[in-house]
Amino acid sequence: MTDTLQSKNLCQLILALDIEEKADALALLKQTGPELQWVKIGLQMFTKYGPDYVRQVADLGKDIFLDLKLHDIPNTVAKAVESLASLPIKMLTIHTCGGQEMMRWAVKAQQNAKPDLQLLGVTVLTSMDRNSLDQLAIQQSLAKRVDLLAALAQEAGMNGLVCSPHEVVNLRQAFASHFTLVTPGVRPTGSAAGDQKRIMTPAQAREVGSDYIVVGRPIYKADDPAAAVAAINEELRAKS
Ligand code: C5P
Repeated sequence: MTDTLQSKNLCQLILALDIEEKADALALLKQTGPELQWVKIGLQMFTKYGPDYVRQVADLGKDIFLDLKLHDIPNTVAKAVESLASLPIKMLTIHTCGGQEMMRWAVKAQQNAKPDLQLLGVTVLTSMDRNSLDQLAIQQSLAKRVDLLAALAQEAGMNGLVCSPHEVVNLRQAFASHFTLVTPGVRPTGSAAGDQKRIMTPAQAREVGSDYIVVGRPIYKADDPAAAVAAINEELRAKS
C-alpha cells in the first residue's frame, strides 16, 4: 500500500474552534457529539481561557491539538513545551522558521516530559502567498521554502507538519509515512474561502494524503454545525 492510500483511509477531521465565548464552544462540542473527535484550540481561546479550558474540552472526550505556534529562543520554547506537557493535549505546534536549534530543544523537552505528544512544525501559513513572501523579501519559491523548513523539522526530530494540502504530495514523497501531515486551508464545496488562499476540499485533501484536515469557520459559522461536521466526515469516508 502506498503512503497516499494508507493516509486516505485515516484522514480525520479536526475542528478549529476559534470563537469568542467558552460557553458557546463547549455547547457546540456537546452538540456535535462523537462525530467529532479532534478539536484544535488556538491562540484566541487559549489566551482568553487558559489551561482550564483545555481540560474542560478534554473532559468531553475530545483529543486536543493545541495550536500555539511557539516561536522564541530555544530555552524559552523548551520550557513552554515542558509546561504545556502537563495538559491533556496530543498535538502542539512550533514555528519551523524559529530554526533547527529551537526545534531540537523543543523535541528534547517533549521526549522528557510527554513522549506521546506530537510536535508539529508550521512552515508557511496557508494565508500567505507569493505576494506575502515578497513583502518579507523572501525570494525563494513558496514550494522551496516549505521543503527547506520541512527538512529542518524532520532532522530536528519533529513528528510532522502543518502545511497546505497543496504541499502534501511533495512532502509525502520526501518524508516517511509516519511523518504526520495536518492540513488547514480546507473548504467544503460551496463554503467561503475567507482569508485562506491555497485551499482544497476535504475529499481532495484526503486524496493527496493528508492525515488530518483542519476546518474552522465552515463548521462553527454554519447554521447547523453538527450537520456540517457530519457532511465533512461523509466526504472523508466516501470512496473516490
Ligand atoms: O476557519 P479556518 O478553517 O480558515 O481555520 C483554519 C485554522 O487553521 C485556523 O485556526 C488557523 O489559525 C489554522 N492554521 C492555518 N494555516 C496554517 C496553520 C494553522 O490556517 N498554516
